[in-house]
Amino acid sequence: MAFLLIKQQIIRHKLLQLLHPRRMWHKVKPKASNTSIDLKTVPGNKILVAYFSRTGDNYAVGNISKGNTHIVADAIAKDLGAKTFEIKTVKQYPANYRETTQVAQQERSSNARPEMATKVDNMQDYDVIFLGYPIWWSDMPMVIYTLWKAMILRVKQLFHFVLLPVMC
Ligand SMILES: Cc1cc2nc3c(=O)[nH]c(=O)nc-3n(C[C@H](O)[C@H](O)[C@H](O)COP(=O)(O)O)c2cc1C
Repeated sequence: MAFLLIKQQIIRHKLLQLLHPRRMWHKVKPKASNTSIDLKTVPGNKILVAYFSRTGDNYAVGNISKGNTHIVADAIAKDLGAKTFEIKTVKQYPANYRETTQVAQQERSSNARPEMATKVDNMQDYDVIFLGYPIWWSDMPMVIYTLWKAMILRVKQLFHFVLLPVMC
């Protein structure tokens, strides 16, 4: 139980950091490359905030017209003067939460690559991409697998931001 509480606190802390982008984004040191990028020096038109987010019936919050990831994506974009890009799938997910979980589970077990209805134009023009998505079945939604490798190959820095429910 104590472990769970500590874990929740850590997650809550991370989420609060996400909701206060100015505190966190300006100096980010990615582990893999061991280099840092000062986002204050990157012009807003070189940063893209791409996100996948659902509206409709959502976990713990009921029916929403703007998804959680969408809200955070807008906050990051506003803070950095960046553009946003909404990742949409050709096949839309049901508005009903439980039905969506079933579709998503099926996609995950078949290792699907859902087709995208939207496309990032001139991805190579961006130096930094923030890629946001909710956790679905302890994983990325499968549409993120459809596009994220292309992003890694084309931009200098790719940061993921991830949304999941936090019970406080
Ligand atoms: C299909 C589906 C699967 C989910 N799986 C998980 C999960 O494995 N763990 C978890 O903590 N939350 C899970 N959630 C909850 C979402 O991560 C959470 O509601 C998130 O904030 C939704 O973001 P959005 O409003 O941007 O779509 C799931 C939600 C959906 C719709």
